Amino acid sequence: MLKITLLKTTKDTAQTDRDVLMKPATSAEPIITKAFSFRLEIFKEPQAVAEAAATLLLQHISVNPKCVLLLPTGRTPLAMYAAMVERLQQKPLKLELVQSFNLDEFYGIPADHPGSYHTYMRNALFDHIAVPQANLHLLNGMAASPEAECAAYEAQIEAAGGIDLGVLGIGANGHIGFNEPGSEVTSRSHRVALQPGSRAANSYLFNDELESVPESALTVGIATIMEARQILLLATGPEKASALAALMHGAITPKLPASYLRLHHSVLILADEAAASEL
Ligand code: F6R
Repeated sequence: MLKITLLKTTKDTAQTDRDVLMKPATSAEPIITKAFSFRLEIFKEPQAVAEAAATLLLQHISVNPKCVLLLPTGRTPLAMYAAMVERLQQKPLKLELVQSFNLDEFYGIPADHPGSYHTYMRNALFDHIAVPQANLHLLNGMAASPEAECAAYEAQIEAAGGIDLGVLGIGANGHIGFNEPGSEVTSRSHRVALQPGSRAANSYLFNDELESVPESALTVGIATIMEARQILLLATGPEKASALAALMHGAITPKLPASYLRLHHSVLILADEAAASEL
């Protein structure tokens, strides 16, 4: 068994097995997809987080070309997607059988709206890689029945065999996906009212016009996220510091949905120093 620390600092919180079977960002060898246990790796800069995350994702796909991914949007993963696109252009991978599900979508705007997560994903990743359109799943923000849409999405995830790797960001309020504080660990995909801070954090997608940010969204539920076989969470920037500290050291509570991840058997958190500053 190989134990490698990616870069600068490693902080473990779990009491049990700490081994992480992973390689440094420069390695050409594939990741051995085994439980991460619960581990945090801290990098100096957000770009290093992005590079390491891109490495992990591409290694995951290379080891399991039929993998099912759960993908985030937001500012944090943009550099990861850019790194993936660049590397895939240099060294193509077999992507025909990869399936992806996005974590969330605003409710009440169409897929082709400039602020939608559909648009975000096309711009950041999907338009630049060779995963077939039919394999790219996102919740429909215009669904007449959010309940039916969410139930169908859950059924699609199940039909795909479940999520192999769930990639997450974290909200400053501790949300994962759009599971805002108060979300239950048993929640499945559902419509959620967005907190003011979450709307403000997304106003950059709507010309910085807060009033244009939808008031609700559809999100994959906590239970669905928790069923992912592995979780990779990215946290960068000082505005994530208190949420990350609470995730690592606080109570496991609906008040901080990300804290549920401490109950998961295989979590790797990649953070930059700014996000790790309150640990
Ligand atoms: C978005 C998502 C959210 C974001 C979180 C952090 O698909 O699931 O949980 O990951 O709001 O967003 P950024 O990266 O913009 O700080």
